[in-house]
Amino acid sequence: MKIVLASHNPGKMKEMSTILAAFGVELVLQSDLGMHIEVEETGTTFRENALLKAQAVMKATQMPAISDDSGLMVDALNGAPGVYTARYGGEGLSDTERYRLLLSALTGQTNRAAHFYSCIACVFPTGEVLTAQGVCDGTIAFAPIGEDGFGYDPIFFVPKLRKTFAQMTAEEKNSISHRAKALAAFHSEFEKYCREKNIHVDK
Ligand code: IMP
Repeated sequence: MKIVLASHNPGKMKEMSTILAAFGVELVLQSDLGMHIEVEETGTTFRENALLKAQAVMKATQMPAISDDSGLMVDALNGAPGVYTARYGGEGLSDTERYRLLLSALTGQTNRAAHFYSCIACVFPTGEVLTAQGVCDGTIAFAPIGEDGFGYDPIFFVPKLRKTFAQMTAEEKNSISHRAKALAAFHSEFEKYCREKNIHVDK
């Protein structure tokens, strides 16, 4: 089945197309359709924002659309930046400037516990909706480590693998990340949906 991705973030695109391909989903990029839909994230929850993005893209393309809304929740900051992770520090900052700002906000803080959260939403032209979520627990490193990945990857440390996301291979990150877990949960919902609708999906 072809599903349009409601995101322009190259890091998300790469992770989602790899994982979804294994489920028999062919991810179509908006650029493949000559489209570039920007959706204002006015929701107050990850789920609301994920739905806003998927719904807008489904309406524009009349194809099933899938989105991810994700963010970082830091215990010592009472769960911030949360849904505002992409805008942390205001408009116009680079990923590096944003994570450096987060590191300064935690200067002298010994409680480094943090959680990456992802909500996946898939909306079909019939109006039917599937959502799923995933969380990855970790800590905020004291300094950035690693070269790979995107966004806050260099400062998100996962004790289980003793690495930051930016030090992991794509396979390692996709085995434990918030997005991979949300997509695995989405897969169960999607299989159930396809069975009910008698839709055959090749793997
Ligand atoms: P969204 O596009 O509104 O969902 O924003 C997600 C924010 O969280 C962006 O700032 C991303 O860089 C960040 N983010 C989400 N997932 C990851 C990840 O896996 N690694 C690093 N940063 C991430």
